[in-house]
Amino acid sequence: MKGIVISRLGGPEVLEVQEIPDPEPGPGQELVRVEAGGINFADIITTHGGYPGTPKPPLVAGREFAGARESDGLRVMGYAQWAAFAERIAARPELLWPVPPGWSAEEGAAFPVNYFTAYFAYWKAGLVAHAKDAASGVSTGRVPRVLIHAVAGGVGTAAVQIGKLLGVDMYGTSSSDDKLARAKELGLQHGINYKQRDYEEAIKDLTHGEGVDAVFEMLGGEHVGKSVRCLRDFGRVIVYGSATGQRAELDTRMLYAKGASVHGLWLTYLSAHRTLMDEAWKQLSAWTSQGHLRPVVGHTLPMERAADAYRLLSERKNFGKVVLRVAGA
Ligand SMILES: NC(=O)c1ccc[n+]([C@@H]2O[C@H](COP(=O)([O-])OP(=O)(O)OC[C@H]3O[C@@H](n4cnc5c(N)ncnc54)[C@H](OP(=O)(O)O)[C@@H]3O)[C@@H](O)[C@H]2O)c1
Repeated sequence: MKGIVISRLGGPEVLEVQEIPDPEPGPGQELVRVEAGGINFADIITTHGGYPGTPKPPLVAGREFAGARESDGLRVMGYAQWAAFAERIAARPELLWPVPPGWSAEEGAAFPVNYFTAYFAYWKAGLVAHAKDAASGVSTGRVPRVLIHAVAGGVGTAAVQIGKLLGVDMYGTSSSDDKLARAKELGLQHGINYKQRDYEEAIKDLTHGEGVDAVFEMLGGEHVGKSVRCLRDFGRVIVYGSATGQRAELDTRMLYAKGASVHGLWLTYLSAHRTLMDEAWKQLSAWTSQGHLRPVVGHTLPMERAADAYRLLSERKNFGKVVLRVAGA
């Protein structure tokens, strides 16, 4: 079968479509015939060798996919740590979910990482519980605010769709007005172009000096401290990435000055907790079956163009998800 192999450490140029052996399922694993694979920022980091827990090259790339389960033909979408960008994968059954009716394989491949991550970000921020309280008539006083970095990306667009359902006032950053305009069509209320305006200043102005209840932070470096400064009292920064490649800069005195906190979120770790994943899927699948969630697939490329697809993310040219067509390549 064909697969995309990370042939050595480096940038997107190290990706090669190669003939590779069929996967051998371990105990309890299911074989899936892959049709499409979703590209994540983690895939970019993996080619450089900086992704924790990932073996050294040569390695079959890819962390999420959609296709047909070989045992019964069920259309499934799944999450793995590597080897998803190949014509077949041996997958863990608890990390396979049925593709909602009417969705394409590309949409299925764009779902697991973005939507579980975005859901867990709201959960960690306390905003899932807040929305449940509000729905059951418990007075919450005011509409919570969240700042979403890279709002027009894969996780970002998922966070906008979920935030709309939770009744959150959303502020989002992007490098481009065009991307922000498209995120607004999904329900983002306040777009901030960080190339034109400092987002900390923008948040201060837009919230009349109050700040936001939560920040979804995936940039690293100075942005961790800046994100804490965007918080109102008792706010939470959910740290889940470092796209700048820089170590977080944070003076923890800023936290106790306003009762704020910083929470880590890593789907690799959470995905090993079955109860948490099942609980999240219960809510996510209810929303999808009501037609409220639908992945935003901005770009679909054949597997031979994997390097170009990876560059869309690393060069900030993507809107929503970048998906690779795997089958029949
Ligand atoms: N912890 C977890 O479990 C988890 C799970 C999924 C994703 N993540 C993290 O979440 C972030 C988003 O992931 P994604 O897959 O959804 O990617 P993405 O947001 O679709 O693509 C990356 C976007 O980040 C923005 N960006 C800002 N600074 C950047 C920089 N220095 N280099 C490259 N891009 C930069 C760009 O958007 P603008 O041009 O609009 O700024 C770019 O389009 C990544 O940091 C990823 O590692 C973490």
